[in-house]
Amino acid sequence: MTHRRDSGPSDETRAVHGGERRPGPEGSLVFPIYQSTVYASRRNIPPEDIDYIRLSNTPSQRYLHDKLAALEGADAAIATASGMSAMTTVLTAFLRSGDHLVAAEGLYGGTYAYLDQHIERLGLRHTFVDAQRPDAWEAAITPDTKMFLVESISNPMMRIPHLEEVVAFGRQRGLITVIDNTFATPINFKPLALGFDVCFHSATKYLNGHSDLVAGCVVGDRSTIQAVRKALTHVGGSLDPHAGFLLARGLKTLALRVRSQNENASRLAEFLSAHPRVESVCYPGLLSHPDHERGVGLMSGFGGMLSFRLADATDEQVEEVLARLQVAYVATSLGSVETLVTRPAATSHASLTPEQRERVGITNDLVRVSCGIEGSEDLIADFDQALG
Ligand SMILES: Cc1ncc(COP(=O)(O)O)c(C=O)c1O
Repeated sequence: MTHRRDSGPSDETRAVHGGERRPGPEGSLVFPIYQSTVYASRRNIPPEDIDYIRLSNTPSQRYLHDKLAALEGADAAIATASGMSAMTTVLTAFLRSGDHLVAAEGLYGGTYAYLDQHIERLGLRHTFVDAQRPDAWEAAITPDTKMFLVESISNPMMRIPHLEEVVAFGRQRGLITVIDNTFATPINFKPLALGFDVCFHSATKYLNGHSDLVAGCVVGDRSTIQAVRKALTHVGGSLDPHAGFLLARGLKTLALRVRSQNENASRLAEFLSAHPRVESVCYPGLLSHPDHERGVGLMSGFGGMLSFRLADATDEQVEEVLARLQVAYVATSLGSVETLVTRPAATSHASLTPEQRERVGITNDLVRVSCGIEGSEDLIADFDQALG
């Protein structure tokens, strides 16, 4: 697969050098942690520009924002206290009471739960649509519809929505198009280049990549990020500089990690597809995946996530296979250097009703794998022995 590139340095170079101060303070190559919550006042500045940690404008925060923006090819970025904080702040920034949004079915369980259980009390309404069926979107639009919210790769079925059509539809109908790019990462896909207005991440996952912090971010043009920053200041989900330091450190190896994870997922998907105990594998890199062609057109890698089903296995048999894994951890998160395996019906999507899960294909025997950066041969051998 060729790596699509916009103009400018490669993703590897951006990850290391993007946003860096050259040289940093005192000649430092590593930008230090400025933990001070407040800074001696400059004279005659507007209140929103006072350097204060919750306003996300202190030195370590600004440095991190420049690095995040460089990676997504964006004008601006802002870090948040979690991926959920990024999503809720985007909604706060751009929607007001009475507004309606259209969202892709099968969004991450936390996002789904927020839309399903909270926003109505805030005066907002939503309709879920099948992101694979552009012909069905028009019916969901109301005069109050303001936003279209999708994910670049869906969890856990690894579907790639009609993203070009989402952008075109949004433009035609005057909607703000918002995408959660956590699964694809900017290494595999840069949504702003395709025309999305707002892109956000759970940086807890791939962007940091080491299972040791919780963070999020939003990227977009300057006025978009200004609006998000204003909402974030009032909602209060800014990122602490200490966590930001770890995130910036993780970002430097993002391209290397993601390319290795792409490779591991691709090889593991091939192996599992040929295994007699495996009924089916969902990985967009496989020719058999319904969105393979779309992925080739849109992305420079198919990501490190896959899911599979065992043939004729009870819940206990699936659990037994997971319990035998020795390299991979059975753990719910994703995007880390370790391979993580989970059963979405029992974990990430447990809050959905059985009918809701059924509709998006999340059966009890579905297993999701977030490939780490271990050797492919070791991973394959681990799954081989676990499958017995
Ligand atoms: C696709 C996606 N978006 C958003 C989130 C929320 O991120 P966080 O846990 O950092 O709040 C998650 C968490 O699993 C996720 O998988």
